Amino acid sequence: MGSSQNDVISAQLKHVVSSLTSDRKHVPHWYLYDTRGSEVFEQTVRTSSSYTVWKHEHALLRSHVTDIVSQMPSPAMLVELGSGASSKTRPVIEAMIKRQGVLTYVPVDIAKDYIEQVSRELEREYSALTVEPFGGLFMDGLRHVAGRPEPKLVLFLGNSLGNVPIDEQVAMVNEVRGHLSAGDRLVLGLDMNADRKALLKGYRAENPRGLSPFLNNFIDRLNKDFDGDMDKTKFEDTVDFVQSPAEGDTPSYIRKYLKSSESQRVHLGKLGLTVNFPAGEKLYLSEGPNYSCKFSQHQVRRLAEKSGVTVKGFWANEEAKFCLVCLAPNEDIAA
Ligand SMILES: C[S@@+](CC[C@H](N)C(=O)[O-])C[C@H]1O[C@@H](n2cnc3c(N)ncnc32)[C@H](O)[C@@H]1O
Repeated sequence: MGSSQNDVISAQLKHVVSSLTSDRKHVPHWYLYDTRGSEVFEQTVRTSSSYTVWKHEHALLRSHVTDIVSQMPSPAMLVELGSGASSKTRPVIEAMIKRQGVLTYVPVDIAKDYIEQVSRELEREYSALTVEPFGGLFMDGLRHVAGRPEPKLVLFLGNSLGNVPIDEQVAMVNEVRGHLSAGDRLVLGLDMNADRKALLKGYRAENPRGLSPFLNNFIDRLNKDFDGDMDKTKFEDTVDFVQSPAEGDTPSYIRKYLKSSESQRVHLGKLGLTVNFPAGEKLYLSEGPNYSCKFSQHQVRRLAEKSGVTVKGFWANEEAKFCLVCLAPNEDIAA
């Protein structure tokens, strides 16, 4: 990995500081995912009985992978935004290798070290696969491959679009569309679960008196990156669900934050900075109001309409808790 990618990543830490010290204290969502955060995330989503996104999406991908891959010319390359452990990508990799013999896969993820490790494992597992990991932000990764001549299947799974601030989602899909050429496809995996009780259970720490391993890791990371003294025992993991009408354009969403259980100061030694937390103050775990959106089918279709893409395929599970949607640039359809 070139040093320019490392420089970009250290510049991003400055963004974490400005988020922490802004009026609405928050951290960018991507900051939760370093190597350890990615490992904990993967382990949690694979084993949790109450967080069902992984299970639903994996089942849908296994059932419909042939239909999805057939939306593309062959041979094509595979690009994945926010690839993490690439564990649900395996059925797609296998279907594409079966169809075209060999495959190039470009996983794009901010957790650079983690995806480099995953990439080496994938190459050991599939001899017909070449993996070119890009450690960085979604759009930088997409720009990095946009000029390649091969048709591209771009995956954006795990309801990751639902982590993007609500008022930036249309612009993001539109920007992705701008990097697609004729024949390219974008496949989104989106959470449609609007069951408040189930969601609150799924997004809360399993141990009500402590933080989840994922949030513990976030605080460890913050203390390590900035030589800080944030005390895990003085923050509570708090979740609520903001429900919107299914027939409106705005998705429902989970809001998640750490609530300061007393008045306290967090020192970030490396920066010579002190952040004050009055009792009850919230530290949001997302840039926008949404930690994770929950979309109705109407909202998925409206998002596509507003982003200049056409829905070429839509697959939902029986309980309508999750969907995969295959999108093509409008220009491609009109041509
Ligand atoms: C919700 S996880 C999904 C992981 C995996 N795709 C799955 O479905 O299980 C989101 C992933 O996106 C990555 N990520 C989050 N924000 C990012 C950003 N702005 N740019 C690049 N990667 C990002 C995280 O590191 C994490 O691996």
